[in-house]
Amino acid sequence: MYSEIIMDSLRLTTGSSEETEDLGFKIGTFLKTHGGAKTICLFGELGAGKTTLIKGIASAFNISKRDIGSASFVIVAEYDTLPPFYHIDLYRLEKDVDVEDTGIWEYIESDGISVIEWAERLDEIPENAITVRINLLGEESREIIIEGIDEKDWHNM
Ligand SMILES: Nc1ncnc2c1ncn2[C@@H]1O[C@H](COP(=O)(O)OP(=O)(O)OP(=O)(O)O)[C@@H](O)[C@H]1O
Ligand SMILES: [Mg+2]
Repeated sequence: MYSEIIMDSLRLTTGSSEETEDLGFKIGTFLKTHGGAKTICLFGELGAGKTTLIKGIASAFNISKRDIGSASFVIVAEYDTLPPFYHIDLYRLEKDVDVEDTGIWEYIESDGISVIEWAERLDEIPENAITVRINLLGEESREIIIEGIDEKDWHNM
C-alpha cells in the first residue's frame, strides 16, 4: 500500500478490495484507540468501495464483514456492540426526502460510532468527523483520501 501526505490529509492507494478492507480495519482501530472522532463520512461514486472499507472498519469492532450489507431498504443498520456501531447508507433515500427528517442525526449525535455512505446527501458534515473520499483509478485501484486523522497518530499505530 502506497501512501503520502498532502496538506492535512492522508492519501493512499489500494490495489484490491482486501487492501481497502485492511485500510478500513486500521481506521476502525484508530477509532477504538483514539478518543474524539466517532463519525466517518464516506464519499465516492457507485462501486467505489465504501461498503468494502466499512467491512474493514466494522471488523475492528468484532462485527463480521458478512454482516455488513449494501444498501437495502434500511438506511441505518444497528450493531449491538460497545460502543454501538451504526452503518448509515443514504443511497436509498428517495430524492425528495429531506435527510434532516429521517432522524439520522440522533444516531450521529449519540455516543455510538456512525459510518455514513453517500455523505454527499448530508446538509453538513458532523463535527469532528473523519472524511474519506474514494476515487476509482482503475479496475482494482482506488485513491483514498482521509481527512481528520493526524498524520503522526496514523503512522504511530
Ligand atoms: N481496491 C479496491 N477497493 C475496494 N473495492 C474494490 C477494489 N478493487 C475492486 N473492488 C471492487 O469494487 C466493488 C466495490 O463495491 P462496494 O459495494 O464496496 O462499493 P460502494 O462504494 O459501497 O458502492 P455503492 O455506492 O453502490 O454502495 C466491489 O465489488 C469490490 O470487490
Ligand atoms: Mg455501498
